[in-house]
Amino acid sequence: MEIIVRKLEEGDLEEAHRILRLAFGTMRNLPDPLDFGGDTDYVRSRWRANPGASLAAELDRELVGTNFLARWGSVGLFGPLTVRPDLWDRGIGTRLLEATVEIIDSWGVKLSGIITEAKSPKHLAFYQRFGYWPRFLIAIMDLEVGEPRAEERAGLYSSFPESHRDMALGECREVTASIYEGLDLSLEIRAVLDHDLGDTVLLWGRKRIEGFAVCHIGPGTEAGTGVCYVKFGAVRTGADAGQTFARLINGCHNLAAKRGAQRLVAGVNTARHEAYTQMIEHGLRTTRLDIAMQRPNEAGYNRPGVFVIDDWR
Ligand SMILES: CC(C)(COP(=O)(O)OP(=O)(O)OC[C@H]1O[C@@H](n2cnc3c(N)ncnc32)[C@H](O)[C@@H]1OP(=O)(O)O)[C@@H](O)C(=O)NCCC(=O)NCCS
Repeated sequence: MEIIVRKLEEGDLEEAHRILRLAFGTMRNLPDPLDFGGDTDYVRSRWRANPGASLAAELDRELVGTNFLARWGSVGLFGPLTVRPDLWDRGIGTRLLEATVEIIDSWGVKLSGIITEAKSPKHLAFYQRFGYWPRFLIAIMDLEVGEPRAEERAGLYSSFPESHRDMALGECREVTASIYEGLDLSLEIRAVLDHDLGDTVLLWGRKRIEGFAVCHIGPGTEAGTGVCYVKFGAVRTGADAGQTFARLINGCHNLAAKRGAQRLVAGVNTARHEAYTQMIEHGLRTTRLDIAMQRPNEAGYNRPGVFVIDDWR
C-alpha cells in the first residue's frame, strides 16, 4: 500500500471533516460516530487560518487522514490528527506524524506540544516515539453563562479601528512574551476576525493591554452552537497577574453572554496551578481530562505562576 503525505487542499475539506468526526466518534464509541463534535468545525477553520500547514495522507489516491499544524511563535502545536478508522494501525498516522515533526523542526520552535487521551496506551506510545512525553493533565472546563459580570475595562479586537490593530497585536505579543519568550498568538487573533469565528477580548490596564482572550463562538467554529470557547487567554506576568486573570475570566463570560452563548468552555493545563484553582473558584467545572505531551520534555509555559487558558486541542 502506497501512502502519500501532501498538503491538504480546499477540495479535501468535506471528506477531511467526515474522517475527523468518524475517527473521534469511533474511538469514543458513539452510537453514530459521525455525531462527534456536533456542529463544531476544526477542519475548515484551521485550514483557513493556516492553509500551508495542514497535511493530508492519501492511500491509492483517496484521502484517509489529516493533521493540522499551528505555529504560535516559539511554540509549535498540532492536531487533531486523525486516520479513517478502518485503516488504523497500518502506519498512516505515523507517516502524518513524521511529516508534522519535520515541519515543526523546520520552524525552529522552542517547544512543541499536543493534547491527547490520558488513558490510552496507544496514544502515549504513538507520540513518545517522536520525542513527545506525557506531562500534566489538561482540564477542559465548563461554566453556565449568566448575567453579565462587572468588568468595565474589557474591549474587543473587532471594535478596534483597523489602523490600530497592528499595535494591539504587538501588545498582545508583549503579554505572551512576558510568559514565554517568543510565544505569539497573532495567527489566531487574526483568524478569528478574518473568518468571523468569534472575537478577542482585550483587557486594558491604565496604559496598555494587560491580557487578552481569543474566543470562538457558535456553529462552524471550534465552539459549536450555544458555546463560547476560549481558545487562548493570557495575562501579563507580574504582581497583579492573579487579579487581572479574574477580570479576564469575567471578560470572556461577558462576551459569551453578549453573543447569546449558554456555556463558556475553557481548558487549562493543571501545571498552571494558580490559573487552574482560580478557574475553579470562578465556577468552572471540569468536564473532561486529557494530557499534554511535550517535546522536549520541559515545562515550557506549563508551570506555576503562569496565567494562561488553553488546552492545545
Ligand atoms: C491516533 C491515530 C491518529 C493513530 O493513527 P494510526 O494510523 O492508527 O497509527 P499507526 O498505525 O501509524 O501507529 C500506531 C502505533 O501504535 C501502536 N500501538 C497500538 N496500540 C498500542 C498499545 N496499546 N501500546 C503501544 N503501542 C500501541 C501500533 O503498534 C503502532 O506502532 P508500530 O507502527 O510501531 O507498530 C488514529 O488511531 C486515530 O485517528 N485515532 C482517533 C483520533 C485520535 O485519537 N487522534 C489523536 C488525537 S491526539
